[in-house]
Order: sequence, then structure tokens, then C-alpha cells
Amino acid sequence: MATKPIVVVTGGAGFIGSHTADRLVELGHRVVVLDDFRTGKRANLQRWLEPRHGFDGSDPALEIVTCDVSHGIFAALAPLTAKYGRVERIVHLAAQVSVVASVANPLVDMAVNYGGTLHVLEYARAMGVAKVAFASSAAVYGDVEAMPVGEDTPTRPVSPYGIDKLASELALDYYAAVHGVATTALRFFNVYGPRQDPASPYSGVISIFSDRAKAGKPLTIFGDGGQTRDFVYVGDVVRAIVAALGDGNSRLVANVGTGGEISVLELARTITELCGGKSTISHAPQRAGEILKSRARVDRLREQLGVVAETRLVDGLRATLG
Ligand SMILES: NC(=O)c1ccc[n+]([C@@H]2O[C@H](COP(=O)([O-])OP(=O)(O)OC[C@H]3O[C@@H](n4cnc5c(N)ncnc54)[C@H](O)[C@@H]3O)[C@@H](O)[C@H]2O)c1
Repeated sequence: MATKPIVVVTGGAGFIGSHTADRLVELGHRVVVLDDFRTGKRANLQRWLEPRHGFDGSDPALEIVTCDVSHGIFAALAPLTAKYGRVERIVHLAAQVSVVASVANPLVDMAVNYGGTLHVLEYARAMGVAKVAFASSAAVYGDVEAMPVGEDTPTRPVSPYGIDKLASELALDYYAAVHGVATTALRFFNVYGPRQDPASPYSGVISIFSDRAKAGKPLTIFGDGGQTRDFVYVGDVVRAIVAALGDGNSRLVANVGTGGEISVLELARTITELCGGKSTISHAPQRAGEILKSRARVDRLREQLGVVAETRLVDGLRATLG
């Protein structure tokens, strides 16, 4: 009997990756999560690891391969491809995700974030993978004044993280043009939602504010709170990833945001209100180098991938607060 082809999700134990894995399993794919668990958690995938999935003798819908994506993935994936056949598609999300850490240690950032992408692309070329969808970032733009930021805006990243994401995009384009590997790069703006780790100092502001407001603790804003961000709900990001995995749209680079922006002060007030108004809001000195405005142009996302990030902030916040 023919088995279902594999979709690999690198970084699939993380925040965005686990939501992506959930959706792909629900859509009927055989999902292989490749993760080294440096920030990801097995608990994020727990629902697919219960004994009932595959315990009746059927193949499990999701399997985990513990592996560093920047240290060779051929050997790690070989036992599963021997069992189920080739990898059909790859969602490449595994990364060192901290801009601050990339500044402190650019060599690690390059090895994981650029090197990891090259490993994925080499695998895709050698194994005839039909599509690679990649998590790029708004960090490729650097400091931009004119809003909204379109994909044709000159890219001038201001961190090793942004440089390695941009280098990865160039590698995707090269593999598509020269080696015929179909690729799509998605430039995520500020993603939020359940399972984002509030314990990480580099985590998104929404997960940190949510965690503190639920406990009635004060929220601290750096600066006057007038800085704006394009906060996009993880469910909408997953829809963009699933669309990018489809056929066509090779060599596409597309922003993933809502096209709107909200100030950090407004965000803090909304979260406080949703949590019953127990938290106070205080201000600390503005952080050096922090960008003041961020808003995506999203025409390409809508026109090329048919996706509109439509989750209202208040609904996304409710889901995040649980
Ligand atoms: N969250 C955002 O707002 C945002 C914005 C722009 C881009 N991104 C990108 O989206 C992707 C997912 O980010 P996230 O927010 O879910 O972060 P996350 O830390 O929750 O997920 C990253 C996952 O990658 C895994 N990983 C890290 N290094 C690895 C390695 N060398 N080998 C194998 N696995 C490794 C981690 O264990 C984790 O499970 C990343 O590529 C990130 O750069 C995220």
C-alpha cells in the first residue's frame, strides 16, 4: 500500500513550528519534526505523541527526529525515508531566533541560520524535494522610515540575524534558479499566539505582557510606548506557510503581517483590560537601536498566496491569554 509522502518541519517543536505541524497533520500529511530542542519543547507536540496515535498498529501521523539542522540532516532522515518514502516538502523554521544573541555571537547565528538553510537546500536538491518554504523575517529590512514596508524596499539588515535571514533568502533563490528546487521565503513580522515562550527574554512583547498581566504584575514599556508593530496571529502565519508549501510561487518572497500597526502602549492597555485591569503600566528608558515603526505591505501575500491575516488583535489576544 502506498504511504503518504513526508512533510518535514524543521523547528517543529517551537512556537510557530508546532502550530504548523498541528495544521499539517490535520490536513492529512505525514509530518516529521526535525528539531534539536534548544528552545522547542516536546510538550508543544504532545497531542500527536499520545499512544492512540499509531498505537493501533497504524503509522503515527507525526514523528520527531532530534537533530541539529546545521549538522547534516541526511543521516537523521534516512530511517524515516527508508520506511515511508521520500520527503516531498520542507517547512524550514529551525533557527537561532534572538537578534540580541546574534549580535553577541554572530558565528553561531551564521552556522545555524545560514548554514542550516544550506543543509536544507542541499538535501532538497539531492532528494528531489518538491517545495521548500522558509521563515525569513522583517529583520531583513533594517531601519525603514516609509511605511508600509513593501518587499521591494532595499534590504539593509542591522543585525547578524537579519543578514543571515537575507543570505538564506538569496540561497533559496539560487537553488531555485540554478538547481530547480522550488522555494518560497516568508518575511514574518511580529508573530504572537499561544505557546510563545514568555520565559525567554527575547520573546515577543505580547507573550511577556500576557504572562505578567495574567499574574497581575506590572507591565514595563521601554520609552513612551508610541513605537508600533505589525502583530500577526500565529494561525494566520500558519495559513501563509501552508499556502507557500503548495505548487507554484517558486522564488516568491512575501511579507507576512496584517498590514496594520498598533502601538505598544495600546497593546499594554488592551492586554491589561482583558486580564481584568489589575496590572499597572510603567515606563523605562527607551532601548538603544529599537525601531520606532513597523508595518507590512501585504498585497503580495494576498495576491500570490491568497492569504489575508484576518484574526482581530483582541481575538488573537484572547486565544493567547487562554
Ligand atoms: N516569532 C516571530 O515573531 C518571528 C518573526 C520573524 C521570523 N521568525 C522566524 O520563525 C521561525 C520560528 O520561530 P519561533 O518564533 O517559532 O521560535 P522558536 O524558538 O519557538 O522555534 C525555533 C525552533 O527551532 C529549533 N532549533 C533552533 N536551532 C536549531 C537547530 N540548529 N537545529 C534544529 N532545530 C533548531 C528550536 O528548538 C525551536 O523548536 C524562526 O526561523 C524565526 O527566525 C519568527
